[in-house]
Amino acid sequence: MTGATGNVGGKVLSLLREDGRKVRALSRNPAAGGLVPGPGFEVVTADLDRPETLPAALDGVQKVFLMSLGANKATHDARLVAAARTAGVEHIVQLSTLGVEVADDPRANPLGHWHRLAEDALRESGVPWTVLRPNGFMSMNLGWAPGIKADGTARGPLADVPEAIVDPRDIAEVAVRALTGEGHRGRVYELTGPEALTAREQTAVLGGLLGRELRFEPIPLADFRRMLLARFSEETANGVIRTLEEAVAHGAELHGRLSPHVEDVLGRAPRSFADWARDHLDAFRG
Ligand SMILES: NC(=O)c1ccc[n+]([C@@H]2O[C@H](COP(=O)([O-])OP(=O)(O)OC[C@H]3O[C@@H](n4cnc5c(N)ncnc54)[C@H](OP(=O)(O)O)[C@@H]3O)[C@@H](O)[C@H]2O)c1
Repeated sequence: MTGATGNVGGKVLSLLREDGRKVRALSRNPAAGGLVPGPGFEVVTADLDRPETLPAALDGVQKVFLMSLGANKATHDARLVAAARTAGVEHIVQLSTLGVEVADDPRANPLGHWHRLAEDALRESGVPWTVLRPNGFMSMNLGWAPGIKADGTARGPLADVPEAIVDPRDIAEVAVRALTGEGHRGRVYELTGPEALTAREQTAVLGGLLGRELRFEPIPLADFRRMLLARFSEETANGVIRTLEEAVAHGAELHGRLSPHVEDVLGRAPRSFADWARDHLDAFRG
């Protein structure tokens, strides 16, 4: 597993361990991420930026959950896939993104383009694959918590784009089905929530559950870029901003689309934003 300390990967890890599967987690710093080896659970220190660390991480592995992020995603995924092929891995489940299918112009949608190149690297490897293309994660809204606690204001970059955002738990459950079940090889799953809501509408849902009047305030993209630069490289930050500009202009069609694939794989409807919010209300209480 890559991303075992991340948003989706952390949930994939929990589900696999609850199911009694033998798992090996790859992390740049396992201790910092709280990864402690135990029965049936191995932890290796490895880094997609350091390809020499990957053969040992993949030795003896049958299946891989693959995630990476940012402008180096294609390079990272290609390295992992090459090492996996050498190790004789039987199946790779790759976390990608919605938007790959319309990322023809790398200048208009850099984020989608990075993921498209990463998908291409996997498909061309000859290793059996499943690709997951999620819409935005509901958990991104945890970033609203400080503003909501301070003055009842949720702040984010997209105010009025309808988005069928998806619960990362649903993404993780689909990933685990793909890793452990039959019939998922060669499939691309688009993963969305059950309804398209703008950020202002999501704020109203959250306010209703908290019993507080909340408002939504857009963050200008220039300010959002500065926030991204605190975490990511300039190339990644610029690519994310360009992709957001595109979403503001043309996002409703892409991000508002509902896909049946969560229900197809899990046999139940995707969790709604209200479901997610109900389970995370404490994060928004002062
Ligand atoms: N967030 C969204 O709304 C959204 C929507 C659609 C698609 N996606 C895609 O979903 C994926 C996950 O996004 P996220 O924002 O939720 O990320 P995330 O899971 O928070 O990413 C952090 C994870 O990446 C791992 N990682 C980072 N650099 C690494 C490296 N050099 N080598 C090995 N592992 C590395 C970290 O592992 P360690 O720190 O333990 O090494 C950690 O587990 C991305 O590809 C993103 O583009 C996200």
